[in-house]
Amino acid sequence: MIRLHLFELEDQSWLPSVFRNFITDHLHFSQNLPFWYPINLAIAQSLKDILERSNTRRIIDLCSGAGGSLEVLSHIFFDVFSFPVEILLTDLFPNIPGIKRIEEKTGGRIKGHIEPMSALDVPRELDGVRTLFSAFHHFKPEEARLVILDVVRKRASVAVYELGSRSPLIVLLNPIRCFLRAFFLTPMVGNFTFIRFLFTYVIPLAPAILMWDAFVSTLRLYTPDELLSIATSVESDGYVWKSGKLTIRGPLRLPVFITYLTGYPQ
Ligand SMILES: C[S@@+](CC[C@H](N)C(=O)[O-])C[C@H]1O[C@@H](n2cnc3c(N)ncnc32)[C@H](O)[C@@H]1O
Repeated sequence: MIRLHLFELEDQSWLPSVFRNFITDHLHFSQNLPFWYPINLAIAQSLKDILERSNTRRIIDLCSGAGGSLEVLSHIFFDVFSFPVEILLTDLFPNIPGIKRIEEKTGGRIKGHIEPMSALDVPRELDGVRTLFSAFHHFKPEEARLVILDVVRKRASVAVYELGSRSPLIVLLNPIRCFLRAFFLTPMVGNFTFIRFLFTYVIPLAPAILMWDAFVSTLRLYTPDELLSIATSVESDGYVWKSGKLTIRGPLRLPVFITYLTGYPQ
């Protein structure tokens, strides 16, 4: 399917945090469920390779939301790979309760930057491997190019991971899955306040927003070739770029696709 960059509510600065945090809390919750482990393990293996090639143990996560899968990734790095890493969460619209929760749960292995930070202008002193999970689709090609330009200007490394692909079946199923999980899982994702209850079960605006954004996000996903062409459109002497698609057996042994782009200076 061709890529469409339709209107996503999460991109709007006026979207109240009650809806924004609803989306990122759900993403964090689902990516940390036990059946998601093989997917996180595959991502951790790829990320470890980039950390080693970049000679660093520091991950600067951009567009972090509530931390996505980093809680499990940190466990894999520390306890499975015996490869301790420092992780800093950053976002243009930080999910403060989500960040605090993950800081507490990981006993400080993961830290959050609570001031807004744009992926297009990351302070030079935050060196390490920049990661973007389920977030690169937020950027139109010209903005995505600016994200890469900032990486290259500051001689950082980057690893982009997106779940899913622009196939008609996934475009159709993803929003339905999100709508259902909004109804059934919301009390479990954390931060179940009265206002969240109200906008989930009395006026179901939050599930509707989650469903719409899931639909639009899938249509916005980049293919590996598109990712590589964005990266190589930036003058980046000495950088090694790689993109591809991993296929992992996920829930119910169904295939889950992870599209990735990695780049590091040699
Ligand atoms: C779909 S969420 C992904 C959250 C998280 N990475 C995960 O895997 O659950 C996208 C995140 O990107 C953030 N975002 C959007 N535009 C951004 C920008 N220009 N700079 C930094 N963060 C941005 C949003 O605030 C949101 O938290």
